[in-house]
Amino acid sequence: MTKENKQKKTSILFVCLGNICRSPMAEAIMQKLVNEAGQQAHYHIDSAGLISYHEGEGADPRMKSHAFRHGYRLTHISRPVRPSDFDDFDLIIGMDDSNYDKLRRLAPTLEAEAKVRHMTDFCTLHVIDHVPDPYYGGAQGFENVIEILEDACAGLFNSLQLSPQSQY
Ligand code: 4NP
Repeated sequence: MTKENKQKKTSILFVCLGNICRSPMAEAIMQKLVNEAGQQAHYHIDSAGLISYHEGEGADPRMKSHAFRHGYRLTHISRPVRPSDFDDFDLIIGMDDSNYDKLRRLAPTLEAEAKVRHMTDFCTLHVIDHVPDPYYGGAQGFENVIEILEDACAGLFNSLQLSPQSQY
């Protein structure tokens, strides 16, 4: 591929509150879909949190172990959302209404605000309006997160593969 027709990568940032449960899980699921399709050169996937309380930590051990049983390895290290994310990413995807509202308020411009989306808008199997926070719950909550995120990430990936630029 020449420099002139080199495609810009589609960059996606998944965001939740702590960046130790839902968003690193979404990142791993999306990265696996990208890898399995041999599309690594065309995507940049990352995740971040709206609080910095867990900055520098790996994913929650409960999320890691549920992920592992479903064939995912969570290697992300928690980091907070930073102002440059609104320039660096094409899509910034929140897990629930609170994430979405905070991201919209943080967005420095109208153009940046338009990059913010709801994760569950990409679901094609589940009729649901948020990815429930599993942090204070039991094992079923973590399983539920994986099930919803597999649906949402597949919907997102398929829509991007069909018409990349129309999604952002
Ligand atoms: P996450 O879950 O937003 O899916 O990473 C949480 C992680 C940590 C906390 C809350 C939710 N916390 O309160 O520390």
